[in-house]
Order: sequence, then C-alpha cells, then structure tokens
Amino acid sequence: MFNNVILSVQCLFTNFAVQYLCMSELEKEIIEEKQGEATMLENSNIVFNKKLYLESYGCAMNFSDSEIIASILSKEGYATTRNAEEADLIFLNTCSIRDKAEQTIRKRLTEFKARKKQKPNLLIGVLGCMAERLKGKLLEEEKLVDIVVGPDAYRDLPNLIAEASNGEKGVNVLLSREETYADISPVRLGQNGVTAFVSIMRGCDNMCTFCVVPFTRGRERSRDPHSIVKEVEELAANGYKEVTLLGQNVDSYRWSSNPDLKGKALKEAPRDQVVDFAYLLEMVAKVSPDVRVRFSTSHPKDITDDVLYAIRDHKNICDYIHLPAQSGNSEILEKMNRTYTREWYDNKVQRIREIIPNCGISTDIICGFCSETEEAHQDTLSLMRESEYTLAYMYYYSERPGTLAAKKFEDDVPLAVKKRRLQEVIDIQRDNAKRLNEAEIGKTYEVLIENVSKKSEADFMGRTSHNKTVIFPRKHYKIGEYVDVKIMDSTSATLFGEILD
Ligand code: SAH
Ligand code: SF4
Ligand code: F3S
Repeated sequence: MFNNVILSVQCLFTNFAVQYLCMSELEKEIIEEKQGEATMLENSNIVFNKKLYLESYGCAMNFSDSEIIASILSKEGYATTRNAEEADLIFLNTCSIRDKAEQTIRKRLTEFKARKKQKPNLLIGVLGCMAERLKGKLLEEEKLVDIVVGPDAYRDLPNLIAEASNGEKGVNVLLSREETYADISPVRLGQNGVTAFVSIMRGCDNMCTFCVVPFTRGRERSRDPHSIVKEVEELAANGYKEVTLLGQNVDSYRWSSNPDLKGKALKEAPRDQVVDFAYLLEMVAKVSPDVRVRFSTSHPKDITDDVLYAIRDHKNICDYIHLPAQSGNSEILEKMNRTYTREWYDNKVQRIREIIPNCGISTDIICGFCSETEEAHQDTLSLMRESEYTLAYMYYYSERPGTLAAKKFEDDVPLAVKKRRLQEVIDIQRDNAKRLNEAEIGKTYEVLIENVSKKSEADFMGRTSHNKTVIFPRKHYKIGEYVDVKIMDSTSATLFGEILD
C-alpha cells in the first residue's frame, strides 16, 4: 500500500481508495497521500473554528488511522483542509518501513518547520510508526516537532494538543493490547464516496526478521466484529459500494465474546467459540449484495481453505488475494522467519487457483535480504515467472534498527547488487503483467466505477473483481455504478474498454 510501484504494479495494499500510481522503481519509497477536505459532521453542534492539515505516508492502515484521527479532532472543532498554509495544526502520519520512508518525512518536517516563523502558533505533529520508533527523539534532539503520538494513543490527542499549546511536550507513544478504536466512526477522507477502508485488527505478532511493524504497531488484536459490521452497514447506507478490510495479517483475525479467551487460549479455541476471518468475511459480505468486499494483507502461512470457500461462495467478495511471498528461496524465507517454504507457497497459489479460477493474486518481494546468493535470487525470479501475479510490490532490503535481522544478520548484499536484482524482478513482472493483460482483450467484466480517470475527464476508472484497473468512456453512467465493460486494449498496468449498455 505503497512504494515502488512499477507501472501501477503495486503499492503495498493494493486497494486504495485513491489508487497510488507507480513511481520510479527504486527511488520513490513513499506514497504520500494528501487528504481532501473532510465532510462535516451532519447534525452536530460542533463549531469548526480550527484547521487540520494531515498527510499520510505508508500503508492503508495508516490512511485508515488518519480517518480516525480526523474523527477525534473533529469533535475538538478541527476541520480538515487541503491547504497547509491555512492550517493551525499540521500532522504527518508516518511510516518507518524502509529508511527512505523516514528520510522523506524528515525532509517534509524541515519544510513545515520553516512555516513556524510566519505562524508561531502553528503546531506540528508526527504520528504513526515513525513516532513510535523514534519516540521523543524528534522532539528533544532534533526539535522538529511539537507533538509525537504513536498509533495506539490517538484518543489522547486533544490533551497532547493542549499541552503543546502551553509550550509543554506533547508525547504519548504507549502501545496497547486492547485499543482498536472500535467505537470511533471515521471521517472519510478518500473523497470518492464509493470505496472505503475498514480496520479489522491492529498490530502484528509475526516477527518477520526484516520488519519494523511489530515494534511500531505492537501486539496483534482483533476488533469486535459487531462494530465492523455496523461500520459497513453505515457505509452501505451512505452509498459506498466497496469496503477493504484491513490488517497486517487478516487471516489471523480472531475474536470471542468470552473475556476469558485471550492470547494463546483465544488462538487455540475451537472454531465454534470464536469469530475467525472466514466467518467475519461472510458476516461483512451479507451486509449488502451491492457492496464489494476486499481485504489485505493475507499471510501464506495462515490463509485457510475456509477463506477461499467464502470468496468462492459470495459473489461480492472479490476474487483477489494479496499474498506476499517476500522471496522464492526457502533458506531466505527461513531467515526472514516467514515460517513457510517455497513449496508451501507454491501449493497455496495452486490451491487458490483450484478453488477460485481467475483469482487475481499479488505479492510483495524483498530483493537482497541478508546473505541472499545469486542462486537464491534465481529462485525469486522463478517464483515471479511461475506465480503469474497481477500486481507486485517490489523493494530492495532496507535494514531497520531494532529488528531481529539488524541484530542477528549482516546486511551483506551490496546496494548495487540489491538494485540490479530488484530491476530483474521488476522486468519479469512487467512482462508478465503485459502478457496477462493482453489475454484479457475481448473479455467482459463487471466493473465498479470509482472515479473519473486521472488522465482524461471523458473517461472513468474502475476495477474488476480480480483487481485490474480499467479505463473506459463515461457515457451517461455515474461514479458508484456497476457496469459491464468489454476489454478492447491493454498495457502492463491498465485495461481499456467500452461499457456494454
Ligand atoms: N503485513 C504485510 C506487509 C507489511 S509491510 C505482510 O506480512 O505481508 C509491507 C511490505 O514492505 C512487506 O510485505 C515487505 O515486502 C516490505 N518490507 C517490510 N520491511 C522491509 C524492509 N526492511 N526492507 C524492504 N522492504 C520491506
Ligand atoms: Fe511485518 Fe511480517 Fe507482520 Fe507483515 S507479517 S507486518 S511483514 S512482521
Ligand atoms: Fe504501515 Fe509503514 Fe507502519 S507500512 S504499519 S505505516 S511502518
């Protein structure tokens, strides 16, 4: 849901309300999403007398968190603005996943800090994963910001803003084992009114050795399914036509109404005592046949046949699975602590194709992880050739301080080699995507119209169930409608078609 996309091949969580388009393969490590003006709370007595400018970096979870932040601050009288010049409060919701992500944010902070000269009362805050990773450092040592808030402390924002306004330090980076913001109704910032993110869980217990997320987002916890269904019902009532259920590892979603079932006991409880991800998917799918359901991210070790059957049996659960492989070599996978082998991964892909024909499958790949040999890299290339991914988010390894890999392994693949290997992976993916998209020509797909095309006012963009982007002339149709589109042309990133009336 971010970064190096190539030819729209990618971005981490692929299902963005605003699809992040491809940036340069190696350089642009950050997706920056400037949010639009939020819709005002209807029927409320709140006076919106202050302006919040909010930028989100990183994954869809962060984007979704920004909607929670906007909601919490709307109750304090903050309306969101797209114009940083008029803001009283500038928040960057940050990402730490790779070093470049943090560098981009530092640069941005320095730019914003310069504005304080003209506007001394302006407050600047760093929120999200980088805040959690660096804690008070940004505030104390580098004096770049006034407020530092980790992902589990957003309820404390009103207090922290008050403290910072009085010249004190506004810091809260406490992680929680319970916080899911279940009762907070997000202020939708995505703007198209058609697609929305719904967080179903927070944190991650997986400890992949390269990854900073378990440290920045804390322990895994699942949100009450009733609050999830309620949120989807409200979205449906407001005309939304697609929800993407979000979590770092959605397949380990597990919730019980029994407060004694916690931690290990919850993980081991029999299926009839818990709501698992397959069950949740069905609950959400039943809200309305008109509302599509997507989800991200699946972990190859956890995705079950029950999830695949739920996709097969419900037309409105999209035929698309983001199943990050990370590497095609079993030794590297072991070193990454992914807990599956190449063979296991291949079998999962085969199982998906058996149960859900024409399922779109996408991946994340890391090139040049510690000790990766040319042979190991060749295994990743063969994985790319064989898996026929519709999308791939491809990165080279960036060592993150504090992770298990940083502590245990040497970051020994030279940068030039990492970049060359990444380019080879990208080249294969580009060729594959081109070929797979050419094979779509002549077929007809149901497409949800999501927006006007960025390139032409005369065209719409929408997506198929298997998550391919389609561009087509608007005719008399409207955003939010389902249309049958015949595919007439393609590139490696996009399909082009005509609506069949
Ligand atoms: N929870 C998801 C991914 C979260 S991070 C999952 O398990 O798949 C998104 C992607 O960023 C990862 O899949 C991985 O490909 C990439 N990534 C994470 N840490 C990285 C690092 N240190 N260097 C390069 N890429 C990294
Ligand atoms: Fe990171 Fe692994 Fe958790 Fe994904 S599953 S967030 S890669 S630790
Ligand atoms: Fe997402 Fe980046 Fe944090 S990927 S979870 S915002 S480190």
